[in-house]
Amino acid sequence: MKTNICLIGFMGSGKSTIAKILSKKLNKKLIEMDEIIIAKTKYNSINEIFDHKGELFFRELEIATAKELNKIEKAIISTGGGVVMNKIIIDYLKQNSLIFYLKTNFSTIKTRLTQDFSRPLFNNLKTAKQLFSLRAPLYEYYSDYQITTDNKTPSQIADKIIEIYNNFLYIQQVNTDENKKE
Ligand code: S3P
Repeated sequence: MKTNICLIGFMGSGKSTIAKILSKKLNKKLIEMDEIIIAKTKYNSINEIFDHKGELFFRELEIATAKELNKIEKAIISTGGGVVMNKIIIDYLKQNSLIFYLKTNFSTIKTRLTQDFSRPLFNNLKTAKQLFSLRAPLYEYYSDYQITTDNKTPSQIADKIIEIYNNFLYIQQVNTDENKKE
């Protein structure tokens, strides 16, 4: 059964903000993958992990974290923007989560992140744009639903996700009941 809501999307697409709202509105536990990863290390930030141990080390912890989330139910999971670079992470997440892609224009992301220095992979606008183009089709491919976020308030985005999620839970339950009858 899929009972978690999992948000994917590029850096700055609003995953953490929307996840917080969803967690409040649905009264469900909030899980920030990046925070779990930081807690697994002796470092205090993603920047520090990248600086001292490199991206590969970070990605290994990201895989380990996704694997642990296998046991979690009824939670809101906010992922890091790079989870789509490892199919194994998506496979773990898909086992118990409905995946929503927060689709945001690069120009909006650029405005949000230009003065934000907390993201090691958003230091250079040209390479960030390349990363965005590379990943955009992956977010689409791996998600169950896409939510276009431009011109919507965070609350409107959260409400749309809740509507889809509730519908999904209903259909999932009906299908489970039908299977039991057979
Ligand atoms: C990353 C996104 C970050 C964080 C790390 C790598 C990426 O998370 O996991 O800096 O590869 O896109 P956010 O998407 O929350 O910024």
